[in-house]
Amino acid sequence: MTKLLLLGAQGQVGQELQQTLAPLGEVVALDRAQLDLTQEGDLREFLHSQAPAVVVNAAAYTAVDRAEQEPELAEAVNARVPQILAEESQTLGAYLIHISTDYVFDGQKNSPYLETDPTAPLGVYGESKLAGERAILKTGAEALILRTAWVYGVYGQGNFVKTMLRLGKERRQLKVVVDQVGSPTWAKDIASALARLIPQRATGIYHFTNSGAASWYDFATAIFAEARALGAVLEVKEVLPIPTSAYPTPARRPAYSVLSWEKTAAALGAYPPHWRESLRQMLVEAKAEGLF
Ligand SMILES: NC(=O)c1ccc[n+]([C@@H]2O[C@H](COP(=O)([O-])OP(=O)(O)OC[C@H]3O[C@@H](n4cnc5c(N)ncnc54)[C@H](OP(=O)(O)O)[C@@H]3O)[C@@H](O)[C@H]2O)c1
Repeated sequence: MTKLLLLGAQGQVGQELQQTLAPLGEVVALDRAQLDLTQEGDLREFLHSQAPAVVVNAAAYTAVDRAEQEPELAEAVNARVPQILAEESQTLGAYLIHISTDYVFDGQKNSPYLETDPTAPLGVYGESKLAGERAILKTGAEALILRTAWVYGVYGQGNFVKTMLRLGKERRQLKVVVDQVGSPTWAKDIASALARLIPQRATGIYHFTNSGAASWYDFATAIFAEARALGAVLEVKEVLPIPTSAYPTPARRPAYSVLSWEKTAAALGAYPPHWRESLRQMLVEAKAEGLF
């Protein structure tokens, strides 16, 4: 039976991958409590002791703003860990799956970013993720790098949907940024796409998000509308669109980071679900899990 090692198993995408990878073989799921991936010696030893056929890395340092104050830690998790995974995967003859981000781009484009477009991250997080991509590609390991964006899900520490549901219960008025545009993407759809790409042994860089595009303001108003349609009782009466300049954050973010998923859709033989449809499905699951 094929052994798949899943790192970052408790994250938003990691928890969904535990389900979608299961039909592909024996999944060994690892979280931080079992192994801190920045402990290089332990990580190398663990990989050798497990000798998986497939390594799926869903672990990352994802705190975009905090990364500006902790560049060494962001670099260790997002660049050094993928390098070690690639080196050891090559030694073991394993296939490496790694997840990356739309924040490798500067957001100056106004049509969807292709896998071949030049990268130019705006902050430490994006730089560290780009360094991870480069480290993997440099080793020549058999590896798939899937870039995604604006991830939310039922599981994991928190995300925009959960934050909006909480604030929507607490406040009558909310201000949300309108001049950043991307593709909100359900973690479950990423995990499903990966489970279909792995048997193809796709290699190189692929972009995958839900289809369609939205600003954070569009996304917020859709969350409230869909949650209300499912019976959520919310205080919020008014959502005001504001410019990024009115909501300063430590890390700069791309104004436009829609990714072109055409290459991935061709490999999968299917278009990704539209973001609003996936949001609706996610909220159905969130309600069943007691999130509202
Ligand atoms: N979230 C987004 O909007 C977004 C957008 C584009 C791309 N991505 C990429 O998508 C992938 C999955 O993201 P996600 O949203 O699922 O992230 P997430 O929910 O933050 O999960 C990441 C997981 O990695 C674990 N981790 C971090 N440092 C670790 C360490 N030193 N040792 C062991 N485990 C460690 C975290 O554990 P702790 O919780 O204990 O820290 C967490 O369980 C990442 O590669 C991310 O860069 C995410």
